[in-house]
Order: sequence, then C-alpha cells, then structure tokens
Amino acid sequence: MRLVVLTGAGISAESGVPTFRDAGGLWEGHRVEDVATPEAFGRDPDTVHRFYDSRRHAVAQVEPNPAHDALARLEGALGDDLLVITQNVDDLHERAGSRRLLHMHGDLLTARCTACEARSPIAADLIERPRCPECGERMLRPDVVWFGELPYHLDEIDEALLACDAFAAIGTSGAVYPAAGFVMTAAEFGARTIELNLAASEITPLFEEVRHGPASLVVPAWVDEVLAGRA
Ligand code: APR
Repeated sequence: MRLVVLTGAGISAESGVPTFRDAGGLWEGHRVEDVATPEAFGRDPDTVHRFYDSRRHAVAQVEPNPAHDALARLEGALGDDLLVITQNVDDLHERAGSRRLLHMHGDLLTARCTACEARSPIAADLIERPRCPECGERMLRPDVVWFGELPYHLDEIDEALLACDAFAAIGTSGAVYPAAGFVMTAAEFGARTIELNLAASEITPLFEEVRHGPASLVVPAWVDEVLAGRA
C-alpha cells in the first residue's frame, strides 16, 4: 500500500514546539509580515534572524514524541511505500529516524546564501552574519519558505499524491495552501483519506475518516492498525 502522510505543527506540539494558530501560537506573538516574508527580511533582517535563531534554539531543547517515533516505525515496515511530507521546519522527524521525508517549507537548521544560493548547515546564529562556506559572503538567510515564496518539492509531492492508495494528514489546520489541498488531489485519484488531529480543522470535511485526539496517542494507535493491515 503506497501511503503519503502530511504533517503540520500539531505533530510537534507535545514535544514542546509551539504551533502557529493555536492559543499561544507563534502567530500570536509575531506578525507574519514582520518575520516570515521576503519583504520583512529585506526591511529588517535582524528581526527575522532573531525569530529563526530563537526557534532553532528552542527546537534543540526538545525531543521527538511518540507520534514522530510511530511514523519512523511505519517507514521501517513500509520502506519506499511511505512518504512523509512535512510543513514543519524542525528536525524532529529526522531525529525520530524518518528518512523518506520532504520538507516542503524548508528546514530551520539549514541556511541558504542569498549571494550564491548554496545551502549549508547552520553552525552559528545567523544574526552574527556568519560567512557562506561556499562563497564567503555574509549573506545567509534561513532556508525556510516564507509567505509569498513557492514551497519546495512540489513536483515530487504531486507525483506521490497521484499514485498513493492512502493519504493521512496529521496536526495541520489546513490554513495554508498548497498543503491544505493535498487531500483533494489524493482523493481525486482514488486514495483513502484520514485526518488525525487534536480538533476539527479547516479541511476536516474533506476526509473520509477523522480521528481527533493528541498526536502522541492517535498516531501510534493508527500506525499499529496500518501495520496489522486493519487501516
Ligand atoms: N496533536 C494533534 N494535533 C494538534 C496538537 C496535538 N497535540 N496540538 C495542536 N494540534 C493541531 C491543531 O488543532 C491545528 O489544527 O495542529 C494544528 C496546528 O495548526 P497550525 O498552527 O496552523 O500549524 P500548521 O497547520 O502546520 O500551519 C501550516 O502555516 O504559518 C504557516 O508555514 C507555516 O507550515 C506552517 C503552515
């Protein structure tokens, strides 16, 4: 069975990583237009660097939770028949052991040079203006997809959605496209669809099956059923 799983901030919530739109979420404390757009970076790079440097420090303090672990276990059993597409920029899926993973909104731990476009692992806070290891310029930005920019891996994602037998969305509000539309594409090409989320989301009505509850409980239970051939 070819399975595509989309994850959002909700899968990392119980690890202690704030979501965006829940109470106390990141967009409560920051205006998107101040920290997550190319214009914001052009206008005030320090504020943008401070926002992402602090999120990187916060993620380094937390651990994957049983939901991340369950998806890594699922990959161990399904191998290439599983693809996880994450909207998250944290590295908790990787630290849980997932490898068949696409970061469609980029990666908090990677920098991209605005002079030569080279990507490099972030070794120091970007607000310190470290040099690009490739060209030596001090022009690094977080390799995170901002509002108004095109998400990464869309061709590969489309291919996977057209071919999958089942599609699951975990911990996403369905507030941002194109990710919020993936369920419709998968369903259109015959996939079964399931939403695993703490509460009803904007896209809940689009799913055949919905299970509400904390990811650390509902995801391992669902993975057990998939592995037993019951889901
Ligand atoms: N278990 C499962 N789901 C949870 C949990 C939990 N413990 N806690 C919260 N959720 C759910 C919420 O109910 C909500 O539906 O996770 C979702 C989080 O929604 P958002 O904060 O909007 O995060 P996300 O859907 O990932 O946002 C998508 O928006 O701001 C952009 O680029 C950013 O990638 C992000 C995109």
